[in-house]
Amino acid sequence: MNKTKKIVAIFLLVFIIGTLAGIFGYLNTKITTFDECETAGWLVRSITVYDGFGPIEKECTLWGGKHFVKQRTQEFTGDQKNDTTTTASNNSTSESLLILFSYHHGNTEKIAKAMAGVLGAQIKTPQQINPEELQEYRLIGFGSGIYDQKHHISVLDLADELPQVTNKKAFIFSTSGVARKFAPDADDPHTPLREILQSKGYVIVDEFNCAGWNTNSILKIFGGMNKGRPNAEDIKDAEEFAQNLQQNRSL
Ligand SMILES: Cc1cc2nc3c(=O)[nH]c(=O)nc-3n(C[C@H](O)[C@H](O)[C@H](O)COP(=O)(O)O)c2cc1C
Repeated sequence: MNKTKKIVAIFLLVFIIGTLAGIFGYLNTKITTFDECETAGWLVRSITVYDGFGPIEKECTLWGGKHFVKQRTQEFTGDQKNDTTTTASNNSTSESLLILFSYHHGNTEKIAKAMAGVLGAQIKTPQQINPEELQEYRLIGFGSGIYDQKHHISVLDLADELPQVTNKKAFIFSTSGVARKFAPDADDPHTPLREILQSKGYVIVDEFNCAGWNTNSILKIFGGMNKGRPNAEDIKDAEEFAQNLQQNRSL
């Protein structure tokens, strides 16, 4: 192949790749709802059906990275609230509140319930929170699974909307595919939430994380990672964490 032919071939290749990328990007931007995502064929990377008690029934992820969720028709305050009220005192004078979003397998929900049982705390979703009501609580826990190296967007959005406070105590909790303690050099997935809360005047008194069953994307083909987590030991750790908070709360 002479030089001119080579240049033409390279030009054509770049042109074809550029055109395909353009079409791909354009088709991705056209998809704006879960229903459109679910029927987007080859543009879809994964459709996950969740068996947790969270408010999300399905999640559709495009190769381009966009996520869309289908909400459960049943309210989150259904089974989970009934369960929660048995482990946590569900009265408005409770001093502690846990704000939780747990949808993948209900992993973080298990941790939240263990903590709530010790703290006598209520558990609410970000959607159930009126930012002003947080003034009533002395200690607030913010938690969810870790998705794309940060807490769930609904928790981050709520934190963004919170009014400024002075030295209100908060803690952060999560479950994740890769437990934080095993990835000390990776970006800390708690940082985005921590930074928002601190900017609002919250004092982060402690943080909890453990592994959670993860069947995201290709992992589900192999049954996922961390099956069985959180396990009994994780629950015990969560209870001990809450006991420490309880003891330090009076300081
Ligand atoms: C869409 C998606 C993205 C995830 N991204 C991460 C991640 O970036 N890092 C990680 O360690 N785990 C990741 N995971 C695993 C979850 O953090 C883990 O399964 C967690 O326990 C889920 O909590 P949940 O059942 O309370 O929703 C991801 C899971 C899903 C479904």
